[in-house]
Amino acid sequence: MVARVKTVAFHGIDVRTVDVEVQILGGMVNFNIVGLPDKAVAESRERVRGALHALGLSLPPQRLTVNLAPADVVKEGSHFDLPIALGLLAAMDILPKEELSEYVVLGELGLDSSIRAVTGVLPAAMHANAQSRALICPAACGAEAAWAGDVPILAPQDLLQLINHMKGTQVLTRPQAHVPAQANENIPDLQQVRGQETAKRALEIAAAGGHNLLMIGPPGSGKSMLASCLPGILPPLSPREALEVSMIHSLAGQLPEGGLLTRRPFRDPHHSASLPALVGGGHRVKPGEISLAHNGVLFLDELPEFARATLEALRQPLETGEALVARVNHHVRFPARFQLIAAMNPCRCGYLGDPAQECTKAPKCGGEYQDKISGPMFDRIDLHVDVAAVRIQDLGSVPTGETSAIVAQRVAAARDVQKQRFLSLGIEDIDINAHADGPILEQIAPLEPAARELLNKAAESARLSARAYFRLLRVARTIADLTDQAPALTPAHIAEALSYRRLQLA
Ligand SMILES: Nc1ncnc2c1ncn2[C@@H]1O[C@H](COP(=O)(O)OP(=O)(O)O)[C@@H](O)[C@H]1O
Ligand SMILES: [Mg+2]
Repeated sequence: MVARVKTVAFHGIDVRTVDVEVQILGGMVNFNIVGLPDKAVAESRERVRGALHALGLSLPPQRLTVNLAPADVVKEGSHFDLPIALGLLAAMDILPKEELSEYVVLGELGLDSSIRAVTGVLPAAMHANAQSRALICPAACGAEAAWAGDVPILAPQDLLQLINHMKGTQVLTRPQAHVPAQANENIPDLQQVRGQETAKRALEIAAAGGHNLLMIGPPGSGKSMLASCLPGILPPLSPREALEVSMIHSLAGQLPEGGLLTRRPFRDPHHSASLPALVGGGHRVKPGEISLAHNGVLFLDELPEFARATLEALRQPLETGEALVARVNHHVRFPARFQLIAAMNPCRCGYLGDPAQECTKAPKCGGEYQDKISGPMFDRIDLHVDVAAVRIQDLGSVPTGETSAIVAQRVAAARDVQKQRFLSLGIEDIDINAHADGPILEQIAPLEPAARELLNKAAESARLSARAYFRLLRVARTIADLTDQAPALTPAHIAEALSYRRLQLA
């Protein structure tokens, strides 16, 4: 007699069905888990034994085999405890076999039979919903699961609650989806940034079109401050984006209070971050910072201080919008379509170009410092702006600049223009200019003859790479969308886009 329970294995954000088969046979007393389990799954045995013992149940003194099928799917994580325990309970005729087979089950067990939170409940719930199955998940993850359509959900605190529910002596109600309050208070307002008009304009363009931006300037000029204002001018996530982003955060165990994320992610990893932390990976494959920044912003402050290998690993995701994590015998993909915002000092001492303060090694030290960022990396950044030191008299003045709310309105309007244009061309999966490529880019960014001439001349004299050329075109499109919504790009749009391209570094 074999009892079957369904659970899942995660492969990037893809979810695969895994059958947990439990068989009790006569013979030597034994308890085995087979089917390519990793260490955490192998440890399930002890947790399951402990949890059942806490309920006053002991495993039958027979040969117990748990098979996780299909055998060629890698099973990682601790969420197999609960399906294995339920499979055993069914095999022991404590729970009804047929009823159990209708559920997708995941959860970790404590030795006291409590059911602990696990990662990836939202994608698992979406998977269950797509297959018209019900879900059993930990109570702590119930609110998260409730976002996945109207899939029936049981979210027990412990094993006893679940058994009582199945036996009809206690009823578990479906958990409710809720939007967690997302704190607003930490986002500084653009109005607080004095001066820096060019940098503010570049930030607005970057926000409107989703372009990458690099700010270069002396310490204390407001680079980090400008970047931290960005979340305040970006539009909220669309429902589709919110679900996608939340699934990634769920897999990383970073979904706040089990609610859906509605604000665009803003990730600012420290420059000591390791490669797996940034790109994804680790002992149990987890999405890295670049995937947590999917549909949002990755802010790399003090860019040259990041390890070279770490920075170079960003090159591919910046082009493909995907993080590829290599494992021993397979690859895992996570979405990673993020907007890169970076800041750096011009040199180690930070005052290159300021005769009063620069160190004795200038200008050589500047070249050395900036060489830490490779050419291909610079090439992938659409907008380069110099953020000069702010003048003292500006600092003391009353803030007169625009508030983030006003800039956010313009950004939202420009994004709307872009979306409508893509829709009118029958393109539904692209919302912003930064994601337009090839023929689509040519279609959305026609040039006036004079603009084409200017662009070609500039591209030739500055030896722009093909990539830089197309990035420039996208930025010019966004500038037009922000300013006059002209159908064809004018020389003014091209000239402004060119002004944000640092063609030759110091
Ligand atoms: N342009 C500015 N307007 C107002 N305050 C500023 C400006 N630039 C810097 N500051 C102040 O200096 C602090 C440090 O700025 P920061 O953004 O960290 O500089 P950077 O990153 O360029 O070294 C900020 O928290 C802010 O209080
Ligand atoms: Mg800084």
